[in-house]
Amino acid sequence: MQIPILPFFALATTVQATLHLKLVTQFPAPFWIENIAVRRNGALLLTQLTTSPPATLYTLPYPWLSISSNSTIPAKPLHTFPNTNALLGLAESPLHPDLFVLVGGVNPTANSSGSFVAWTVDFRPLPPSPGLATSETQPRVTQIASLSSKGVLLPNGVAALPGRNAVLVADSLAGCIWRVDIATGAVQLAVKVPEMAASKGAAGVNGVRVVGEKLYWTNSATAAVYRVGIDAEGKQKEGDMVEKVASLPAIFADDFAVGPTGRKGELGGDLLWVATNVNNTLIAVNGQTGKTEVVAGATGSLELAGPTAAAFGRTEKDKEWLYVVTCGGVKAPVNGLTEGGKVVAVDTRGFAMRD
Ligand SMILES: *[C@@H]1O[C@H](CO)[C@@H](O)[C@H](O)[C@H]1NC(C)=O
Ligand SMILES: *[C@@H]1O[C@H](CO)[C@@H](O)[C@H](O)[C@H]1NC(C)=O
Ligand SMILES: *[C@@H]1O[C@H](CO)[C@@H](O)[C@H](O)[C@H]1NC(C)=O
Repeated sequence: MQIPILPFFALATTVQATLHLKLVTQFPAPFWIENIAVRRNGALLLTQLTTSPPATLYTLPYPWLSISSNSTIPAKPLHTFPNTNALLGLAESPLHPDLFVLVGGVNPTANSSGSFVAWTVDFRPLPPSPGLATSETQPRVTQIASLSSKGVLLPNGVAALPGRNAVLVADSLAGCIWRVDIATGAVQLAVKVPEMAASKGAAGVNGVRVVGEKLYWTNSATAAVYRVGIDAEGKQKEGDMVEKVASLPAIFADDFAVGPTGRKGELGGDLLWVATNVNNTLIAVNGQTGKTEVVAGATGSLELAGPTAAAFGRTEKDKEWLYVVTCGGVKAPVNGLTEGGKVVAVDTRGFAMRD
């Protein structure tokens, strides 16, 4: 007797897991949102990549309001950086809440190498001072390091180094990760392995995160996620080998998020959520098994047109919502179309990867 197993398999593989999405904001085209971070008060921080200066850092104060309604919320400019066309990754200091490190500068062109620096963006209140009006929303922006003069070629994703007043900065061209000390501005090489290398003109290491004692990163050129053990200073652990966590069903891996924190399951409670930019998808990755699943967007769809990065909400209202930012499909037009970059909230509540 023949078992009719084929139709069943055919059906199973066509099931498309799609999480519920809400549009939070959209900029007029053209607008490339390159990265996102979330303040402890829940406000989103959005970085802009432009073709010509200046570039602006934006905020979106109450993103969860758009989740409970069908309305979008306009982002507000926070700080404009003259002579800058690229604002890239940013991360909060592990030791000083509401102090962020942001990297950016001038992108390399065919004729010139780039010029990049690191700034702090400090939202902490100033000590009270007579006659000085304090503003809650206006951060103080200070350059803390020249990156280009230290050998950094193209800074990209930024991650907090837990327990230290430092961040790790991915370098997509040099194929390595640098450690930037927030207090001193010292820039040191942290990890350089072949799995971070750029290849054939495509960026190498792009997003970077520390989970426990492991450093995770995406490599854009290989469309894969890797990890290696690191010590407290962010250096590769002696004798620890790089592992490939997953190869993605995509041709490009952009930045990613880990979380939501505290949920039972994979990776000690966390999953990886990778934005694929030119493939217009968000891919969930189980760090234990390497299993991948497209959870939002699709090739040929504007739903997530050119997703570049993602971050979880930090309030009770949105801690299981993942905010995904896009470049509007500028890198690879979707059926010939582009649009303004946007922020889309992805509902991850109840999500579990299929076996
Ligand atoms: C949002 O829009 C959808 C579809 O248009 C509709 O079904 C839903 O009731 C709306 N929700 C609210 C809160 O307005
Ligand atoms: C770069 O150099 C080429 C050849 O010298 C020149 O034609 C081109 O205009 C330059 N581009 C810019 C942006 O300066
Ligand atoms: C990703 O996008 C490229 C072209 O942009 C396409 O050739 C490829 O099939 C896509 N991959 C998937 C899994 O959709």
